[in-house]
Amino acid sequence: MKREIYVSPSLLAADFSYLKAEIKKVEVAGADLIHIDVMDGHFVPNITIGPVVVRWLRKVTDLPLDAHLMIKNPFKYINSFVKAGADIISVHVETINKTAFLKQKKKLEKFGVDLAVAINPETPFSKIKPYLDFVDMVLVMTVHPGFGGQKFMHSVMPKLRTIRKSFQGDIQIDGGINAQTYKTAVKNGANILAAGTYIFKSKNIHKTIKGLRNAK
Ligand code: DX5
Ligand code: ZN
Repeated sequence: MKREIYVSPSLLAADFSYLKAEIKKVEVAGADLIHIDVMDGHFVPNITIGPVVVRWLRKVTDLPLDAHLMIKNPFKYINSFVKAGADIISVHVETINKTAFLKQKKKLEKFGVDLAVAINPETPFSKIKPYLDFVDMVLVMTVHPGFGGQKFMHSVMPKLRTIRKSFQGDIQIDGGINAQTYKTAVKNGANILAAGTYIFKSKNIHKTIKGLRNAK
């Protein structure tokens, strides 16, 4: 089955002193979503941005804001991200339990926010399997979360294929996506491509995004 491909530029690689301009740049170049990496210095060894920034980003674009929460207690902060204007919120399977997830999922549905589940490279399929019947999107990490510009981990491909076999929804792939790796990700089942460095450091963003979207 041929799935539509969506491109979600990751702001982590943008110039943070010109965030509005950076968003406009990817927006006119054809981005489908805006990927926002939220890091707390606990779940990952880096700190980035929180709801305060998301609230300002909400004012400058109508594209769906796709918040990737790499934080230890996602449900403690989830309301703040909803209020700030996030449209999709991914929480890591390593940080949650199913009961709490389902409760939050139901709550967020009322606000039109989609709660998705993310999985680290070394976390086995068995951990995410119980969530697959309840989500519209899964985010599969192909780098250890925390930093942009890392190398795509091909070792995650068997797990990606396994997820795709039992999941018909969207699979977002995140980490190390570039001209050499995006086809592999799509071939193995991904249909949303989060990419930071490859997009923001590219000389022709329009062409780069178009190329990603035309992945077969
Ligand atoms: C890593 C983040 C990724 C990152 C991707 O922790 O979740 O979204 O920004 O950056 P690139 O595309 O440069 O690997
Ligand atoms: Zn991310």
